[in-house]
Amino acid sequence: MDDIFLNGNFIAKSEASISIMDRGFLFGDGVYELIPVYNKKPFLINKHLARLKNSLNMIGMQEIDNIKEDILKFINRSNETNYHIYLHITRGEQSYRNHVYPNDIKPTIMIMSEKYPCFNEIQITAGFKATVQNDFRWQKSNIKSISLLGNVLLKKHASENNCYESLLIKNDLLTEGSASNVFIVKDKTVYTPKLNKDLLPGVTRNFLIEILDTKNISVKETDITLNNLLNSDEIWCSSSTNPVVPIIKVDNSIIGKGKVGEYSLLAFKEAQEFITSY
Ligand code: PDD
Repeated sequence: MDDIFLNGNFIAKSEASISIMDRGFLFGDGVYELIPVYNKKPFLINKHLARLKNSLNMIGMQEIDNIKEDILKFINRSNETNYHIYLHITRGEQSYRNHVYPNDIKPTIMIMSEKYPCFNEIQITAGFKATVQNDFRWQKSNIKSISLLGNVLLKKHASENNCYESLLIKNDLLTEGSASNVFIVKDKTVYTPKLNKDLLPGVTRNFLIEILDTKNISVKETDITLNNLLNSDEIWCSSSTNPVVPIIKVDNSIIGKGKVGEYSLLAFKEAQEFITSY
């Protein structure tokens, strides 16, 4: 759909505009969500909206009234079946540039549809490469902030090195990827970094933990060192754009047998099955 939803109105994308005084434009002051739509149904929308509420609260903003209704209106109006909803909320427009925000500012709310490339089964079973990078981002990575410069630089670095992802290390511990969460497998146990302020509480991360649990595979949420990462049997990245992306090589280290492993494939297939029947 070419129309976007901006502050209560549907408008052609090419005609939509916001003020240059919007704090999102000037300061990257805002938060966002990316919600998959499968078969015209938003996937795990309540989980995304719960995270949105937390992100808003953590930056001192109120919950947005009727946001769920607006998303559903957007989906109803669209004639597309499978896509992603990009929801972008900034603190709003201020008459002059000032780091200090007023408390009575009206947020800018935008919803648009995006189509992100989803890997097919052939690509998934071939596996991807990743690189380890220092997690130099700020100390509130649990907020889904629109200020993504650190993530942007880290993802570009990965891309330029033919890697799917930069896997981020802070104080010798794995946090997440530049745009994904990370799981590892060692000796038939699945691990993922425990939630804290250094990583986003991924909706897909939680979905995979729950779906693996139904297969009697319990995921251990714990600290993972760089050494654990590089010596793991399997690694995969998770996100709303591609739920399971297996990693078979990290810089010069071959992961496991250098092939996509059984747990990664199982997670991928279970996620696919769930999504297809959603
Ligand atoms: N990003 N960590 C980071 C830094 C992310 O940017 C993302 C997703 C995730 C995974 O979260 P979820 O499973 O809820 O999508 C983890 C989205 C897809 C993006 O920015 O486009």
